[in-house]
Amino acid sequence: MGMPTTARTVLFHELGGPEVLKIEDAEVPDPGVGEVLVRVEALGLNRAEALFRAGTYYYQPSLPASRLGYEASGVIEAVGEGVTELAGGDLVMTGPGIEMSAQGVYAERVVLPETAVVRRPESVDAVTGAAAWLTYTTAYGALLETAGTKPGDHVLITGASSGVGTAAIQVARRIGAIPLATTRTEAKRQQLLDLGAEHVIVSGGSGAETVAKETRRLTGGRGVEVIFDAIGGPAFRPLGDALAEGGTVVWYGWLDPRPAELPWNWPVTVHTYANFALITTPGGRRRSTAFLNAGLRDGGFRPVIGEVFDGLDRIQDAHRLMESNEHTGKIVVRI
Ligand SMILES: NC(=O)c1ccc[n+]([C@@H]2O[C@H](COP(=O)([O-])OP(=O)(O)OC[C@H]3O[C@@H](n4cnc5c(N)ncnc54)[C@H](OP(=O)(O)O)[C@@H]3O)[C@@H](O)[C@H]2O)c1
Repeated sequence: MGMPTTARTVLFHELGGPEVLKIEDAEVPDPGVGEVLVRVEALGLNRAEALFRAGTYYYQPSLPASRLGYEASGVIEAVGEGVTELAGGDLVMTGPGIEMSAQGVYAERVVLPETAVVRRPESVDAVTGAAAWLTYTTAYGALLETAGTKPGDHVLITGASSGVGTAAIQVARRIGAIPLATTRTEAKRQQLLDLGAEHVIVSGGSGAETVAKETRRLTGGRGVEVIFDAIGGPAFRPLGDALAEGGTVVWYGWLDPRPAELPWNWPVTVHTYANFALITTPGGRRRSTAFLNAGLRDGGFRPVIGEVFDGLDRIQDAHRLMESNEHTGKIVVRI
């Protein structure tokens, strides 16, 4: 096809810290049936990739020579047989249903199934596109499709300064719901208010009982209709006291890996949320992409970019920054 047959690619041959990430030339096959070749313009980092590299993610890398990465933005360079919805030159974002060892997107070029890419609007630049897909899709799937959040509902978002949390504030606002945000860090209060949180509850060392009490006070005693929880652990049960009668918890992250008990204020609905269940169905992919792109096009969704590194060679530095937890928002590497 006249395309380059190798591309600079991040590979790792053993589990470990950022130093195990190497840049090597990897073969780029022609896209097969139902596949597309993407020229990557920017990558967005996720916590999942630090866990995968260290061997603590929910599935293990195949070593040696594992690839890495879910999220990128780029341009379609070629399409394989049977691909009818995409063509060379189309702008895309990657993410849905990627198996990182074989398909990781930390590379200058990558071949993916067409189901692993979604279209990126013309107005969305590469850096913004690399920071958008996973966070907004998770917030959309959990808050709208799973919890059925309605306009006027109060939504308590824990760990709200996370990538997903910041997106969830904007998603709640977009549908007319009222986001309340928690953080452990006083310094993040103003930023969360600026993003659209109605109230920010700084938990400090005081725990979930205080968060629940404060939530009830801020909602006139009623509590929230929906809790969107990133943390789990021993705080999960007392956090439930923040719910209005018959409320719903969507539990999507385990930033505190210790065991969690269900809330006691029954009747209560507790859902766990996993993105792949939504985005590996054609309908789920269509609805979540339409929601994301509508928000990106009209400026309602503004991904928070923490830091941009230039060049694949900076990948170790980018991972070190993620593990320092000093950033807020997404870390992006521009290719
Ligand atoms: N289910 C799904 O489909 C899905 C999809 C995407 C992500 N996730 C999960 O969602 C979680 C968040 O991911 P992310 O990439 O958005 O996070 P992130 O950007 O790494 O942010 C995490 C934030 O949460 C707070 N935090 C960290 N550890 C905590 C702890 N032990 N207790 C309380 N707060 C803590 C910190 O904020 P403060 O310092 O402000 O408190 C931190 O800035 C992860 O567990 C991830 O695996 C799940």
